[in-house]
Amino acid sequence: NKVVLAYSGGLDTSVILKWLQETYGCEVVTFTADLGQGEEVEPARAKAQKLGVKEIYIEDLREEFVRDFVFPMFRANAIYEGEYLLGTSIARPLIAKRLVEIANQTGADAVSHGATGKGNDQVRFELGAYALKPGIQVIAPWREWDLTSRERLLAYAEQHGIPIERHGHTSPYSMDANLLHISYEGGILEDPWAEAEESMWRWSVSPEQAPDAPTYVELTFACGDVVAIDGEAMSPAAVLAKLNALGGANGIGRLDIVENRYVGMKSRGCYETPGGTILMKAHRAIESITLDREAAHLKDELMPRYASLIYNGYWWSPERRMLQAMIDASQTSVNGVVRLKLYKGGISVAGRKSDDSLFDASIATFEDDAGAYDQKDAAGFIKLNALRLRIAAARGRKA
Ligand code: ARG
Ligand code: SIN
Repeated sequence: NKVVLAYSGGLDTSVILKWLQETYGCEVVTFTADLGQGEEVEPARAKAQKLGVKEIYIEDLREEFVRDFVFPMFRANAIYEGEYLLGTSIARPLIAKRLVEIANQTGADAVSHGATGKGNDQVRFELGAYALKPGIQVIAPWREWDLTSRERLLAYAEQHGIPIERHGHTSPYSMDANLLHISYEGGILEDPWAEAEESMWRWSVSPEQAPDAPTYVELTFACGDVVAIDGEAMSPAAVLAKLNALGGANGIGRLDIVENRYVGMKSRGCYETPGGTILMKAHRAIESITLDREAAHLKDELMPRYASLIYNGYWWSPERRMLQAMIDASQTSVNGVVRLKLYKGGISVAGRKSDDSLFDASIATFEDDAGAYDQKDAAGFIKLNALRLRIAAARGRKA
């Protein structure tokens, strides 16, 4: 009889709020989070009050989001299906956690969200909620109600005095934004052959419009996380905000893909992840000098598993915790500075240095190494590795 709703303050979740009150006759508690989506969250208070809500939670979760979710994920270099940086996927477990905590605080027995029955987000919210509070009830209005078209939803809003913002251009896309990314789905994107209009992109200039001179930036890493930009110490959220600005101005981080949703369908989505794209490149660069080869390769083998876990909503699972412990253990040596050059949508590594570097110029040099490395050792190394190949070849096996 009390339900905590993940409430954006927008039209859809306002309709959900009203619908919950009407259909379940229950008291609704709203939860609105600032995850860096770039929109004011305070207006949600007046909207919820107008709909009769008494317990209203509005929270700034930007630091927690980047520190405890985005950064741990980037330590793994997580990328789903070779392209997607998981911007929406990584925010859902935090929202699930807060929904459950607020349910516990307010004595609510249910949580509710505005994700549809066709997508990944419902899975992520609900797996998280069940993992953290096994007896929780979940109400997913999109799977229950008959407001199955935009028209019906608007009619319901009109009937119940929920304001529909007609002036400000309503986007033709289903969007989701936080400090890591902004995503676009639906509308003309439902034709995978149709190119996104330039006017869709909100966070970045096109590479064509980007400045003709490159931008250099230096990122300082400590235990795999960026702790300073150009020598200035910054909080996790400030780091990502700054990298978003730098990347967006240089046309970095646009992506247009067709991905496989967990529920089984393919879906076309466009993403802008300017800061995350820079972070990924820089993290790999610092790892390239500070990680042992086999440790790095093992991380790379497990990375797709880790990325799928996050995409599919298993952040709060034992297997994700296991992998995280391994990944975090690998990062103790991932310290140092990476210098990047940003130019018209591209990122190149201009330099990297670390007190924990494993790079040894005296061994790697093409000049005289003064006995640091005995080239004669390589002959036996190769011969023994070739042994089985030679035996097979001698027996007439085809290569
Ligand atoms: N396809 C992406 C994902 O599953 C983005 C989902 C966007 N969600 C939204 N409510 N618009 O992570
Ligand atoms: C939704 O269906 O609510 C958004 C897309 C997704 O969750 O994958």
